[in-house]
Amino acid sequence: MRDDRTTDTATRRTEALDVLRSNRAEGYTIPSATLYPFQWNWDSAFIALGLAGVEPEAAKEELKSLCAATWENGLLPHIVFHTDAEGYFPGPEEWGVDVDGVATSGITQPPMVVPAARRVYEATGDDDFLDCVYPALERHLEWWVRERSFDDAVVYVRHPWETGMDDSPAWTEPLAAFDPGEVEYEREDRKSDELADQRPSDWDYDRYVSLVRSARAADWDERSLRESCPFLVEDALTNAIFVRACDDLAALSVARGDDTAATTWREQADRSREAIRDRLWDEESGTFVSYDRVGDRKLEANSVAGLAALFGEIPTNEQFERLRRTLRDDFFAHEFAVPSYVGEAFDPDRYWRGPVWINTNWLVADGLRRYGATDFADRIDRDSRRLVEREGFREYFNPETGAGRGSDRFSWSAALYLELTGDR
Ligand code: SER
Repeated sequence: MRDDRTTDTATRRTEALDVLRSNRAEGYTIPSATLYPFQWNWDSAFIALGLAGVEPEAAKEELKSLCAATWENGLLPHIVFHTDAEGYFPGPEEWGVDVDGVATSGITQPPMVVPAARRVYEATGDDDFLDCVYPALERHLEWWVRERSFDDAVVYVRHPWETGMDDSPAWTEPLAAFDPGEVEYEREDRKSDELADQRPSDWDYDRYVSLVRSARAADWDERSLRESCPFLVEDALTNAIFVRACDDLAALSVARGDDTAATTWREQADRSREAIRDRLWDEESGTFVSYDRVGDRKLEANSVAGLAALFGEIPTNEQFERLRRTLRDDFFAHEFAVPSYVGEAFDPDRYWRGPVWINTNWLVADGLRRYGATDFADRIDRDSRRLVEREGFREYFNPETGAGRGSDRFSWSAALYLELTGDR
């Protein structure tokens, strides 16, 4: 008898490849043709991860083109504007940055590029690829420590877009604490009434734009922004990915026969882990939270960012037990795991204020396996597959009904579906 489940999966895998190929430009993949027509930093990393086992050449090109956009100082921009496509705000003219003839944004994103590079290297064993990307990866992590940390241990962001979780309720307090003034701009992201209800609010955008303009006025100078930027946050998700990136760079250093670098990055990971456990753990809510360096306070939002600490193997065994209860009681209470946020501001349809995202599901499941919690990890993977198989490669999903939201034919949903259903 025919196995329908397998046939479904095979069909979906073919569709996933079709999405990725149709979103592919020269050497990189756009996240979605309708909303994001350029190369995005952590999107490219997740895309490369998914492609590693299926189209390794494309996976290598994806990361090489991203690494080539690294600034001289080590910042890896969150958007690389390879073309002058229209229909996106804020586009290249808003940032005014040029890296060897290519326009980029002036902020970064969580350094998923390193875990992705490790995966691609391990899938291909290609030393030339590693030699090509390694210097940029190292320069980038050095930049985080040098330019984005108050203590050489916990790293901070200076824009909500840098966290990837743009309108997380965790940012409401620090954003409310400053006056963006009169900001004039025209949004391009509300392409339909439905999308308008799912995207961040104008209140958020006023502050996003104001932060971009003031950082540009400061010539993107990190030292001066450390003094003047009204939004400086030690984000739980960015720190989890940063720690994992340090571990993974250590592994890549070993592969290159550089034991000194391996020791440096292993020590960095340990130092960061310890400081994060200390500063970002919130015993009362049983999860990791972010820390507002301007307001000098914890930002107590129960979001998937706290659970992502597992990906960096940050929780102690005791914290892990508590975190597992938080996951079970607060997040698994919804039909589909894992909502991006649970709490008073929960909105099942709005961007990072409730919907399930396939990339954060992947990070949490990977982390759970590191702690031996395969039952919980399997539940999350199953929900990711169920959502995609039912709704297609949507950007995000309502955790109560499973309804697909945001853009369609979204690249990382397709790439991570390939990863979840491939030989693991
Ligand atoms: N996620 C942002 C956007 O929606 C930018 O990174 O445009």
